[in-house]
Amino acid sequence: MKKAGKIIFGGWVRMACLVVCGVALSVACALTLRTTDAQAQATQSVTPTTAQAPAATTAAKVAGAYPELPAEQGKDVFVRVCSQCHSPDNVMALAQGREGWENTVSQMVGYGAQGSDDDFTTIVAYLAKNFPAPAAAKINVNRATAQELATGLSLTQTEAQAIVQYRQANGDFKSIDDLKKVTAVDAKKLDAVKDRLAF
Ligand code: HEC
Repeated sequence: MKKAGKIIFGGWVRMACLVVCGVALSVACALTLRTTDAQAQATQSVTPTTAQAPAATTAAKVAGAYPELPAEQGKDVFVRVCSQCHSPDNVMALAQGREGWENTVSQMVGYGAQGSDDDFTTIVAYLAKNFPAPAAAKINVNRATAQELATGLSLTQTEAQAIVQYRQANGDFKSIDDLKKVTAVDAKKLDAVKDRLAF
């Protein structure tokens, strides 16, 4: 009897324990899950703000840096990519067309400049817009040397020399029509550069 009573008692105690523990466990579980949910939600709503804040601050800082560079579209990308090795304001010493800037940028990629294709397209656009080739200078046809006439007006050496000889023999040119009297020169070439002729 003693033995059996012990067993029964032990059985009851164990049962009670299991039930209590089970309930306690599920309550604890439910509570934990709820807290985790709440935490997850809290984290979700906070994450985008914390993730964006540093990026935005950096972009603003980058765009605000180098005030000597025009604050035009693409400046942030340009400064980020092109200040890795040297100050980006060394571009100010150059003034060239889009093709020239494409060459400069590919040269920098060759040196190891890091960026995406989009970055480099943006950079070339920024540079071509803000540091374009200077407007072609005017050439004074009464003062320029034969060499200056040839390179400045895209003439052959023979044509340029003919202009110099003509003006030595006949005095200064007054207009493009005077210049066209130099028969050795292709008149079409003169028309092509008429905006850049100075007398
Ligand atoms: C990985 C390093 C590096 C990065 C990044 C870099 N450069 Fe350079 N850059 C150089 C070096 C090296 C020179 C000097 C080359 C020389 O003297 O010929 C130079 C020189 C220049 C020059 C002067 C060249 C000249 O012909 O006068 C310009 C302009 C220039 N870089 C523009 C840029 C631009 C624009 C970017 C961004 C696309 C850039 N660099 C990014 C390494 C770099």
